[in-house]
Amino acid sequence: MSIQRWDFQEQARELRGQKDLSVFDIVSIDDLSVEDIDLILSLATIFKESKSEKLSLLKGVSIINAFYENSTRTRSSFELAGKHLGADTINISGSGSSVKKGETLLDTTETLSALQAQVIIIRTEFSGMPEFLARHVSANIVNAGDGWHEHPSQALLDLKTIRDHHGSIQGKVVTIVGDILHSRVFGSLARLLKKQGALVRVACPETFIPEKGESVFGFEYFSDVEKALKDAEVVYALRVQEERGSTGYIPSMREYSKTFGISAKRLSMAHPNAILLHPGPVMRDTDVHSALVAVHEQSRILDQVENGMAVRASLLWMVGDRKDGKKKEYKIL
Ligand code: CP
Repeated sequence: MSIQRWDFQEQARELRGQKDLSVFDIVSIDDLSVEDIDLILSLATIFKESKSEKLSLLKGVSIINAFYENSTRTRSSFELAGKHLGADTINISGSGSSVKKGETLLDTTETLSALQAQVIIIRTEFSGMPEFLARHVSANIVNAGDGWHEHPSQALLDLKTIRDHHGSIQGKVVTIVGDILHSRVFGSLARLLKKQGALVRVACPETFIPEKGESVFGFEYFSDVEKALKDAEVVYALRVQEERGSTGYIPSMREYSKTFGISAKRLSMAHPNAILLHPGPVMRDTDVHSALVAVHEQSRILDQVENGMAVRASLLWMVGDRKDGKKKEYKIL
């Protein structure tokens, strides 16, 4: 028997009770407590099941999706998540906005706040911009990716995908392969995996290792991807980001693919129960060989996309509807 709309809403309300997150804005994984993370992911399970229903948990709430960098997955899933919960959602992008006329992102965001947007989701090339905006505007800010820094909703959906398959990640080996230097996905994922007690390995050319990266993020570095894959229960491939100049750090894409690309043979060197993840967009036959992308039994790449909508619905509900009625403190500049 399928669960009906009101049952989903009641389940979500019952699970949440009067709880709020320990933060008003979703800027960095560092700001979230273990309890926050567990609540976000538990609610996401309900929102995943209810995806074909239209709920009204955010009825009357305005959400603005402000994307100043390209996106397919993150932008569409935040929009769908807001609509799923009954919010009014609108999208703005760099090319059609007054930022192109020279308006600062702060002034744009203050303008959107003045239009009574309760939540502003922002993707920007500027690392640290979401945190800065969160301190200076009344709307609650959700970081949808800032420069090379963080992409917290991506890490949370990755953790949900891992938990759906493995349960806990505590004490399990996660091998991340690729350009961690330019990767905001890595920035959030490494922070989250550390909080969850995973054993993180990184395999990539040494030129992709940030200064002091091993001590800051607590991973073990491997120059040999096949050694790094041994016993891994999660294999996480990252894209070489040509638009951020990554190709200047490697001899060639062809050489990178040969040395670090995840093929079926390499995946078979991991734990037999391993899953393959990638945040997308996948560069087929460079980061991951084509045969593994969508239909391979160990690939969870499309599950990540599906979980994206559910996790983002959780985040939007938690930041768009405070139960304690408190408003965040901010300082107009
Ligand atoms: N993973 C990710 O951020 O994908 P998009 O750039 O398509 O949003």
